[in-house]
Amino acid sequence: MPPRMTDPNRSLLTLRGLDAGTLTALLDRTESLLGVVQSGAHPPQVDAGAMVGLLFLENSTRTRCSFEAAVHRLGHHPVSLTGQGSSVGKGESLSDTAANIAAMGMQALVVRTSLSGGAAQVARITGIPTINAGDGRHEHPTQGLLDASTLRASLGSLEGKRILIVGDILNSRVARSNMHALTALGATVVLVGPPSLAPWTFAEGGPRIEVSHDLDAVLESADAVMMLRIQLERDAGRSVSSDYRAAFGMTSSRASQLREGVPVLHPGPINRGVELDDDVAADIARCLVLEQVTRGVAARMAILEWVLNSRELN
Ligand code: NCD
Repeated sequence: MPPRMTDPNRSLLTLRGLDAGTLTALLDRTESLLGVVQSGAHPPQVDAGAMVGLLFLENSTRTRCSFEAAVHRLGHHPVSLTGQGSSVGKGESLSDTAANIAAMGMQALVVRTSLSGGAAQVARITGIPTINAGDGRHEHPTQGLLDASTLRASLGSLEGKRILIVGDILNSRVARSNMHALTALGATVVLVGPPSLAPWTFAEGGPRIEVSHDLDAVLESADAVMMLRIQLERDAGRSVSSDYRAAFGMTSSRASQLREGVPVLHPGPINRGVELDDDVAADIARCLVLEQVTRGVAARMAILEWVLNSRELN
């Protein structure tokens, strides 16, 4: 069999600059692959058998397992490396680690790293199509896509909708990827948090981005609310006061003020009793966290198909 040809330009490093047409094509493909994920079936295997290196050099539960599941479902082979137990612990750099895994004959790489810009660095050094699975504070494009997919399914369309993203915006790669995707799809994004974690400067990021430091003032205008975790591993704890939950948590009383049918999302991991109360998390009609996870596998399959050159986006 001739070696599979992949195109390094088919990396997914950011959602910034992706137009509504491209995003919609990815979301449509995600929607059709969702049935495959839910039924446990495997799609007809076009071009199966690629080797996909999964470099997870920062902690991960959902994203890593979701990529593994997506790779398997498409009939490809994951080669997994995590930070713990790898030579990163011996001081090996991200570039050297990635170059060595790439030299084993990978057709694509998936990278999670604490280094903002690390996924682009891997793509540059290896010349292999690379998917950013979260790089520091920078971006988390596949999370942005699965969130957009969940929101589109719940709201019908994102055009003209107001989506609140609440919490540690400053340190969140999830917020950044969502800002790009949701505004490109016609939504207004309201970034909500204390001034230390949601600075006004974010509002300069685009015409449909707003900032608020008062969750109660914007709650009733929301078509959907995405709650975020405080990124303690990025030193965000120092900027948080002891009344954080009272001011910015999705408490039961706040959830009851949301309009009927307004969904609550969270990328996980949830810190229960901080950004999200237990009974809000347990309200499966409103809180879509597990639906996000299921859609995550389908979204990653859609991305892998494109990256591995087995499918065009149209
Ligand atoms: C997010 C991440 O890693 O950026 N989680 C995820 O990928 N499901 C958000 C977070 O860790 O708070």
